[in-house]
Amino acid sequence: MLTPTQLEEIAALLEADQVVALPTETVYGLAGRAASRAAVERIFAVKERPGDNPLIVHVAAPEAALALGRSVPPWARHLADAFWPGPLSLVLESAVEWPWVQGGHPTVAVRVPRPDWLRELLARTGPLAAPSANRSGRPSPTTAGHCLADLAGRIPAVVDGGPCEGGLESTVVDCTGPEPVILRPGPVTAEMIAGALASAGPPRVEEEDGSPARGGAGAAPVTAAHSPVARAASPGTRHPHYRPRARVVLLEEGQPVPEGHAMVIAPGDLPPGSPPQTLVRRWESPEALARNLYAWFREADHAGVPVIYVYRPARTGLGVALLNRLEKAAGD
Ligand code: TXA
Ligand code: MG
Repeated sequence: MLTPTQLEEIAALLEADQVVALPTETVYGLAGRAASRAAVERIFAVKERPGDNPLIVHVAAPEAALALGRSVPPWARHLADAFWPGPLSLVLESAVEWPWVQGGHPTVAVRVPRPDWLRELLARTGPLAAPSANRSGRPSPTTAGHCLADLAGRIPAVVDGGPCEGGLESTVVDCTGPEPVILRPGPVTAEMIAGALASAGPPRVEEEDGSPARGGAGAAPVTAAHSPVARAASPGTRHPHYRPRARVVLLEEGQPVPEGHAMVIAPGDLPPGSPPQTLVRRWESPEALARNLYAWFREADHAGVPVIYVYRPARTGLGVALLNRLEKAAGD
C-alpha cells in the first residue's frame, strides 16, 4: 500500500511496466504506461478484461491529451477547456498507434484527471492507460480496500488516496463525428455539455421541428440511447458491468419494499408499512448516491444479502448516469 506522496516509488513501478491501482476523482484506476504493450497486456490479464474493450488514456495536461488525436473538432477543444482536468473522456481519431490500448479501433479515448498529484505523476511517466481497478464485470472500486478485494496478489501496489470524490466513472463523449455523442453518461452531464458548447459557440439554432441543429460548436449532444450507432461504437457497453453478486431490483417512488432479507437504497425514509430491513442506506442528493453506490453494492455482497432494492433517482442531471449504472446492474 502506497500513498500519493510516494511519487518516486509509484513512478518507478510504472516505468518498469508494472501496473498500479490508484485513485482518480471518479473511481480507482488500474494504471500502466499506455505506450507499453507489456504494461497494457498486464492490465487486461489482471482484470480478466475482454480484449476488444479499449482503455482510457490519462494525460498530464489538455494540450498533450488532444495531441493524441487527429483532426480534433473545435467543439471538442471547447469541451476540453470547459471540463479538464475532470471526469470527461473524449474519443478522438487516434494520432498514435497503440493497438493494445485502442482495442482494434482507429480511435483513442483521452482524459486529464483532476487530482494534482496524479497529473504530477503523469508528467513524469507519460500517458497512463487506466480502466477501473475492478475485476471485469464487478462494481468499480471507490476505495483502496475495494481494489485489494478484487486484485490482491495480482498487482504490486495500490495507492491509497481515500474514497473517491465523485464515485461514478467519467462521461465518455465520441468526438469523431459531426457532433458530440455521449457513449457513456457520467458526472459531466448532457446539460453541462450543451451549456459549455452554447456559451463557446455561435448561438444554438433549433431546426423547424424543434430538434437541435446539427454540427457546430453549439450543437446539443445526442445520447447513446437515441443512437444505435453510438452503442455499437462503445465496445464497453456490450459487456456485463457494475454488477454486485446480489440481484439488483429497481423500485419506483412510493412503491412498497418487498418482504425478505435485503439491502434497500432509498432517498430518505421508506414508505410507511415497509418490512423491517436488514440494511437501509439513505441518500440525500444524486451526488451522495453517486459517491456511495458502489461501496453499498460491495457492502451488500459482504453481508451476504441476496437482493438490493434501489429506488430510482430522477432521470435528469447526474441521475442519467446513475440510472445507466443501476439499469446495467439490474441486468435491464
Ligand atoms: O472515470 C473513468 O473513466 C475511470 C477512471 C479510472 O479514469 N476509467 C474507466 O475505464 O471507467 P473503463 O475502462 O472501466 O471504461 C472505459 C470506457 C469503456 O466503456 C470503453 O469501452 C470506453 O470507455 N472506451 C475507451 N476507449 C474507447 C474508444 N476508443 N472508443 C469508444 N469507447 C471507448
Ligand atoms: Mg470499468
